[in-house]
Amino acid sequence: MKIKNAGIIGVGTYIPEKIMTNFDFEKIVETTDEWIRTRTGVEERRFASPDQATSDLCIKAAEQALLSAKIKIEDIDMILVATCTPDFQIPSTACIVQKKMGALNAGALDINAACSGFIYGLTLANGLIKSSIYKNILVIGAETLSRVLDMEDRNTCILFGDGAAAVVVSQVESGYGILSTYLGADGDLGEALTIKAGGTRNPITSERIENREQFLSMKGQEVFKFAVKALPNATLQAINMAEISPEDINLVIPHQANVRIIDAASKKLGIPIEKFYMNLNKVGNTSAASIGLALGEALEKGMIKKGENVVLTGFGAGLTYGSLVMKWSY
Ligand code: UT7
Repeated sequence: MKIKNAGIIGVGTYIPEKIMTNFDFEKIVETTDEWIRTRTGVEERRFASPDQATSDLCIKAAEQALLSAKIKIEDIDMILVATCTPDFQIPSTACIVQKKMGALNAGALDINAACSGFIYGLTLANGLIKSSIYKNILVIGAETLSRVLDMEDRNTCILFGDGAAAVVVSQVESGYGILSTYLGADGDLGEALTIKAGGTRNPITSERIENREQFLSMKGQEVFKFAVKALPNATLQAINMAEISPEDINLVIPHQANVRIIDAASKKLGIPIEKFYMNLNKVGNTSAASIGLALGEALEKGMIKKGENVVLTGFGAGLTYGSLVMKWSY
């Protein structure tokens, strides 16, 4: 069997209209714009409107990605949706997207690797294309985190936002596309970032709702310590596997969680901070959507050219981490 090269052939993004600034949060919890900016880098984020759920955000980004890839929905043979805020527990958000977009020839699957989800999705798509199982795969990272935020918990509610990013992954010319992928997980740290109630372990009860266990909770410092190690390590693994060196990297697109985590990764890797694309000041942490949103923006600004080496790298609940290196193919 001839091994093919897989790569991104089109990108689309969507962020909801409603802007929530740090000053808006000053009216909700005991916080300040100054604290949020200096501790995280976030200035504002977007929240979905009450009638929008994750699949709606997915579709807006996916429609753009199809246009950019010049491909019809009937040509998509698999839809992978990375999200930890699905429309429902059942059916999957990918199936809702499949139905609403009329993707008559596609399988559909959700991936829950939280903020690493977009990289997990791209890694699966890479394998499925390379092995000739599928031709065109829609990978979407999307979240409506505003629905699971505890607006009484200043440790978490100020960090996150809503959004979606989609890419079409297909065969690309030899030497281009995804050069390496590296994924990992450390389930020992799972409790550091969790929604305690609502699954089969802790079904929703009025007592659990009273304790606000239906919302996201986080041990911020534990996640921070994990991230400053996992992000550079995973990045370096992927760079080594691609048989290039950090100096060959044109642009790093990291998960947009905290500017201090990205700074630490830049120092550890010896890759100048100017090569790290950041948009977290405008969108906050959008979990599975974060890397794709930043990628879409960097492309729109003309910051990625054919033949350049781009690294995507992230970490998130699970805890999970992952990186991949691409030689941009268009
Ligand atoms: O996608 C993965 C998602 N998660 C992450 O990436 C999170 C990784 N962690 C972080 O980014 C940081 O740990 C945070 C930004 C969440 C917190 O920053 P920190 O420097 O680790 O602060 P901290 O948790 O150590 O808290 C320092 C102080 C505490 O007050 P005391 O105990 O020193 O009096 C907190 O209560 O800051 C307080 N604090 C706040 N103050 C004002 C916590 N949140 C806020 C807030 N406004 N929003």
